[in-house]
Amino acid sequence: MPEPGCVVVVGGTQGLGRAVAGHYADQGREVVLSGRDRRRAEAVAAELGGRARGIGLDLAEPTELADRLAGVGRVDHLVLAAIERDENTVAAFDVKAATRLATLKLVGNTEVVHQLAPRMDGDGSVVLFGGRAKDRPYPGSTMVSAVNGAVTGLASSLAVELAPIRCNAIHPGIVGDSPYWSAKGDPVLDRYRNQTPSRQLTTMADVVGAVVFLLENRSVTGVNLYVDAGWLLL
Ligand SMILES: NC(=O)c1ccc[n+]([C@@H]2O[C@H](COP(=O)([O-])OP(=O)(O)OC[C@H]3O[C@@H](n4cnc5c(N)ncnc54)[C@H](OP(=O)(O)O)[C@@H]3O)[C@@H](O)[C@H]2O)c1
Repeated sequence: MPEPGCVVVVGGTQGLGRAVAGHYADQGREVVLSGRDRRRAEAVAAELGGRARGIGLDLAEPTELADRLAGVGRVDHLVLAAIERDENTVAAFDVKAATRLATLKLVGNTEVVHQLAPRMDGDGSVVLFGGRAKDRPYPGSTMVSAVNGAVTGLASSLAVELAPIRCNAIHPGIVGDSPYWSAKGDPVLDRYRNQTPSRQLTTMADVVGAVVFLLENRSVTGVNLYVDAGWLLL
């Protein structure tokens, strides 16, 4: 049996990416997690323990990614979870922030796949993170909604181009215990809770379970999975 490859989590220093990295580190897998700052990524990897290690890369600088990923060996699973939220509106449009976000989620993520796909075998898998903001915008989500919508097309194309490597996208709703949303506090979160059938928001654990399913179920490819507690039903 060949040695298993590693699990790469881009955007693994906090939030949902960190939770996925922690899941695989707890299983004893070799995990490579990234953030923009290498030392921060190394510190997070040390906190997770096991066989996790950290690397630094900036998805908004796609031409540098080949060098940043040079030290990554065989890869079994690739999770692309990074985001730089720009809280942008068309009325007060910040072109620089918008360009960074579009570049990192679309061009940067695709360049990571381009670099790492040759290091994956036919059982390998990729999960892209989109988000339900593509269908239900919130104040300031103009570019987040736009790029998360584009992730749907990217997942379809990569599922065809990379086959037999599988590619899927996950689109969470409001993840109430994620750092970004939990910081907004109950007055904001209660509004979203009241828009879900169960009055409960999606949790980080729910998202990790869904990512593991998409990565490991060999019959699932080209799927855009909504993990949103039924947010759009009401
Ligand atoms: N949280 C939610 O409720 C929710 C809902 C729907 C969809 N999503 C999606 O789920 C994913 C994770 O969201 P999250 O809330 O967990 O994110 P988060 O807590 O804001 O973490 C973002 C991660 O991306 C990294 N990152 C930021 N800019 C980067 C860049 N230019 N290049 C490379 N890495 C970069 C950050 O690392 P450093 O800061 O260390 O660089 C961090 O690890 C995102 O794609 C988001 O769109 C989240």
